[in-house]
Amino acid sequence: MYVPENVVTNNDLKNYMDTNDTWIQERTGIKERRYAKRTGETTTTMGVEAAKKAMERAGVSPADIDFIIFATLSPDYYFPGCGVLVQRALKMKEIGALDIRNQCSGFVYALSVGDQFIRSGMYKNILVIGSEKHSFGLDFSTRGRNVSVIFGDGAGAVILQPTANDNEGILSTHLHSDGESAEILAMYNPGTHANYWTDNTLADFDEAEIAEMFMSHNMIDKSQNFPYMDGPAVFKKAIVKMPEVIMEALTFNNLKPGDIDMLIPHQANLRISQFVQQQLGLRDDQVYNNIQYYGNTTAASIPIAWCEAWEKGKIKKGDLLCLVSFGSGFTWGSALLRW
Ligand SMILES: CC(C)(COP(=O)(O)OP(=O)(O)OC[C@H]1O[C@@H](n2cnc3c(N)ncnc32)[C@H](O)[C@@H]1OP(=O)(O)O)[C@@H](O)C(=O)NCCC(=O)NCCS
Repeated sequence: MYVPENVVTNNDLKNYMDTNDTWIQERTGIKERRYAKRTGETTTTMGVEAAKKAMERAGVSPADIDFIIFATLSPDYYFPGCGVLVQRALKMKEIGALDIRNQCSGFVYALSVGDQFIRSGMYKNILVIGSEKHSFGLDFSTRGRNVSVIFGDGAGAVILQPTANDNEGILSTHLHSDGESAEILAMYNPGTHANYWTDNTLADFDEAEIAEMFMSHNMIDKSQNFPYMDGPAVFKKAIVKMPEVIMEALTFNNLKPGDIDMLIPHQANLRISQFVQQQLGLRDDQVYNNIQYYGNTTAASIPIAWCEAWEKGKIKKGDLLCLVSFGSGFTWGSALLRW
């Protein structure tokens, strides 16, 4: 994992918007988050730092990597994706690089795609990265406070390799989506849909508005270039779908919630994680949360939590790990692993 040095507390945010530490902690569990440097620190550079650590721990060098999968919703550029920037930064061979656009579920999706390439025998060392730089795309005025207090910057990475042991590594992954509510947690602009989203309702748009498609001064003046979230609606769906997809993974492997040694939920909101824990009847030591210190780092949250839990000695060889995510799309998924 890699997180920027700059710690931003809930009280720091009070300088920009009408909010307070009590509200943020009670509703989300977050005490502080990290924000990347203004220049020189991007989604790619943070991903590269996490990748270097992952390669060192796996005992591989950039020359050994034969595929890159990069999950993010905050890429350095609209295009090309961050995968090729990692290939360049680490001076890797001309290997394939794939970017995943599945927001909070990005890492679980990336892991699942990598798992299939390993199982098929196509690749032997896949670098999977989840990285986000949210701090430069948030509305720090009071209007955007329900979103901006939640998100933080950071990155995590893993190296996937084959194993001959059937009871080791990724046992299975389970991916889902439901696009019915795609717009309730979304960043519409810049986009190629034309700028028809005004005042949070789908409006009829005229020629003049179509002419403003993709990006315009008007959009910026109206602050339409920030993420939109209907928080309570996301919350309600997450607490149903996360336990459901965990149970799907357990049932598929003939296991029960009690068999999980460590559940690593996507760090969206501490209350969501606690609800999932309660639903599955898990003890505190069976769940790892660190949203208190990093906020929601979207595609990076699971690998950051996973790495930190391992560094703290909370994950031992042979442990059954369960990763679970839910986010914009909606997309959600789970992975069961034997460490
Ligand atoms: C966003 C979230 C923390 C909001 O908590 P909530 O209890 O649902 O709160 P509401 O949105 O109903 O807002 C309650 C009040 O707090 C206010 N509020 C919102 N953000 C605030 C902030 N940062 N500081 C202070 N007050 C705030 C609202 O304006 C509202 O005021 P009102 O009652 O006067 O209208 C919560 O809905 C959530 O975490 N949802 C899931 C989001 C998520 O996981 N997103 C990532 C996708 S994986």
